[in-house]
Amino acid sequence: MLTNLWYVVLPSAQLKDGLAPVQLLGQPFVAFRDEDGRARLLSDICVHRGGSLSAGSKAGASVQCPYHGWRFDKDGLCTHIPAQPDARVPVKARVDAYPTVERHGWIWAFLGDLPEAERPPLPDLGWVDDPAVRVVSGHFDWDASWDRVMENGLDFAHAPFVHGSTFGDPDHPQIDAFDVQRQDWSGQARMTMRRPVRKGWLRRTPTGEHVQVTTVPGYHFSGPCATLELTPREGWKIHIVSAHVPVSANRTRTWWMMGRTFLRSPLFDRRTIASNLRIFEQDHEVLRKVRPERVPDTWQQEVSVKSDGLQIAFRQRLRELEQRGWRIDEARLAREFTGRTACVVPGPERRAGGAWAIPTIPLLDVTP
Ligand code: FES
Ligand SMILES: [Fe+2]
Repeated sequence: MLTNLWYVVLPSAQLKDGLAPVQLLGQPFVAFRDEDGRARLLSDICVHRGGSLSAGSKAGASVQCPYHGWRFDKDGLCTHIPAQPDARVPVKARVDAYPTVERHGWIWAFLGDLPEAERPPLPDLGWVDDPAVRVVSGHFDWDASWDRVMENGLDFAHAPFVHGSTFGDPDHPQIDAFDVQRQDWSGQARMTMRRPVRKGWLRRTPTGEHVQVTTVPGYHFSGPCATLELTPREGWKIHIVSAHVPVSANRTRTWWMMGRTFLRSPLFDRRTIASNLRIFEQDHEVLRKVRPERVPDTWQQEVSVKSDGLQIAFRQRLRELEQRGWRIDEARLAREFTGRTACVVPGPERRAGGAWAIPTIPLLDVTP
């Protein structure tokens, strides 16, 4: 798991007036809307005696801890201590606050301390806001790590084995050579999948014919998102984005949206949602049993081939980001930050120095 990335917190529509607890990177956060309706995200650990802020209440634009009623504003500063209302608020009475953006129907939060100019961009998901595209959405929970789930979405060699003829042809599982386009924060590949044409009610009867489906899988480190664009026939497009958010080291919450430029009647929504969830279920059957649970640290511990090219690009970029010191030290986290010591992902305000009560999450020194 990495700090200093944008993570999808919640769909905008799911954050209303109250406080929403959210677990990301193994840590608790509280999301809420301020007086202007803007989404905010704070660490959920009250610095007084460790109360869970999300179990408290909203008091105007502040969050009130359920334990002794301390109030924290949208920037995480304590503004009120009910037991001694006239005394000065200690400087350390603050919790970490994280930059947020609402775009393409999701709330994104930057979980790290980089200044604004150094933060990665968000992916361009313009199709979500295009009235010519019918969008459906949902979520899926995995007993699998975010990096394994992510790589699964970049890999089409598994499709005929795990998903039958949904994306390809089980009788022709070979993947034609493809190039990977890499940008700083994203990468994608254009593949041509051969899909058998079936006919009849429920499309069970093979016709012996095939169509070529242009299939463009990709990744973006903000979200972090797996993207997929399909052209099932001339002029038809399907867009899928799945933000694979690490809840903890081995559990992932996927927020997904799927858009189609054809059969746009809402009558087709249910079928579209069901088919996307069926695909996740099929992947889950495999991913929950994959070992090791996480992508291994060295290439030598697995065997890669050319058709794994897009995953390889993702892994290489992931390694580079880890070498910046952004990788959370999960072993130390499990060993040292239980029982008597909590920790938090540092927000940008920590860069200004000053005193903070709760130590920052341990990061790993990954040498190139
Ligand atoms: S623990 Fe939050 S106010 Fe005391
Ligand atoms: Fe899959």
